[in-house]
Amino acid sequence: MRPYLLLVNGPNLNRLGERVPEVYGVQTLANIVAEARRLAATFDADVHDFQSNSEGALIDFLQAQGPQALGIIVNPGALAHYGLSLRDCLEDIHRPTVEVHISNVHRREAFRQHSVLAEVVDGQVIGLGFRGYLLAARFLLETHSER
Ligand code: DQA
Repeated sequence: MRPYLLLVNGPNLNRLGERVPEVYGVQTLANIVAEARRLAATFDADVHDFQSNSEGALIDFLQAQGPQALGIIVNPGALAHYGLSLRDCLEDIHRPTVEVHISNVHRREAFRQHSVLAEVVDGQVIGLGFRGYLLAARFLLETHSER
């Protein structure tokens, strides 16, 4: 099997493209996954993507596919702010992980300004729109190929 990245999206991100486009943009999740796949292919890698509105399903996917992944890109949606089970799962898997937020959460409501995942991820890309996923993918692919 080729090396692969995980591209994991939490609650409501299935609605990208239609959900508050002035905040989250007009790209669909399918487009973002396709772009990430194109980028990964240039590194001879694959992307395994998963979206769920349920924290347990995200954890099941991460436990199954995370340990062998070259890295994990996760946009946890609002679980960033309270998803302690997801946090513990990422800590347990312990793979290179980048947390992505499409919107600049620091310019928004106070509850969005704290991420419970922050202390268990390698870095965050915040507020750069859908390109944040691709920047995170490039970081993980480049650092993996340097190893
Ligand atoms: C988000 C920011 C979260 O606060 C929000 O709940 C989301 C999307 C983002 O990508 O900007 O669902 O993670």
